[in-house]
Amino acid sequence: MSGSTAGVVEIDSLSLWYGEQPAFRDLNLSLARGSVTVLVGPSGCGKSSLLRAITRLHEAIPETRAEGTVYLNGIDHRQFAAHELRRRVALIAQQPDPLPFSIRRNLEVVLRVRKEAKRTWPERIRDVLQRVRLWDEVHDRLDQPAEALSGGQQQRLCIARALLHRPEVLLLDEPTASLDPDATEHIEVLIRELAPRRAILLVTHDMAQARRLADQLAFCWPEKGCGRLIECGPAADILQTPQHAQTRAWLAQPDT
Ligand SMILES: Nc1ncnc2c1ncn2[C@@H]1O[C@H](COP(=O)(O)OP(=O)(O)OP(=O)(O)O)[C@@H](O)[C@H]1O
Ligand SMILES: [Mg+2]
Repeated sequence: MSGSTAGVVEIDSLSLWYGEQPAFRDLNLSLARGSVTVLVGPSGCGKSSLLRAITRLHEAIPETRAEGTVYLNGIDHRQFAAHELRRRVALIAQQPDPLPFSIRRNLEVVLRVRKEAKRTWPERIRDVLQRVRLWDEVHDRLDQPAEALSGGQQQRLCIARALLHRPEVLLLDEPTASLDPDATEHIEVLIRELAPRRAILLVTHDMAQARRLADQLAFCWPEKGCGRLIECGPAADILQTPQHAQTRAWLAQPDT
């Protein structure tokens, strides 16, 4: 492919190896602006590894190599400085990872890096916390440690930090796996609100969540210990008439 711009992210024949062992092979996937792509599949089929490869985080792991190409707006992602790529393509992990600072300072760190005028910081902080629906819960304790927040609040703070970088793409790796139903609903509402202006790739084991959120569904399946994308397309089509036997079996399971 010659740097197509059909999707914000175009993944072209991407494979990743840890040493001699392939994690996934020949993966093609397009992430469009305004669309939530939900990636599902059994444990160990390479979902987190894919998110790592998109953001080139695998480069920090010894003996790990990727083949194939990821395009961001038509540009090979290797042409970006790693920190620039990771600001434009934000990865939200399962375990929220706020910095060991106050809530306010977690956000100010980003505003400082972005060289935003200091007088605008209070307004930017209020806006982004309102955006992730955390403001009402924390506005009177911005100087308390972020680590004192609940898991769901920490996850929303981490999304707020990522949003301050104005990412074009959000990669969410089981963002609600350790959250209760209320906190999960907060994050799901937020994902839908963020989707219109971004490309979103969500990994989840929760098929009820996949059904609620997916515009596009992608199924990954391990073959001889290596993940393959066996089916991908509009969620409505795949949920109604899955083509692949494994997809049919997966969808026939009761929702978690
Ligand atoms: N740092 C690493 N070094 C070596 N092998 C790894 C590393 N990280 C993952 N793997 C292997 O790569 C394969 C895919 O792992 P990955 O974490 O991407 O799966 P996953 O689909 O995200 O699983 P889960 O649903 O449990 O999160 C697994 O066999 C795993 O053991
Ligand atoms: Mg994973």
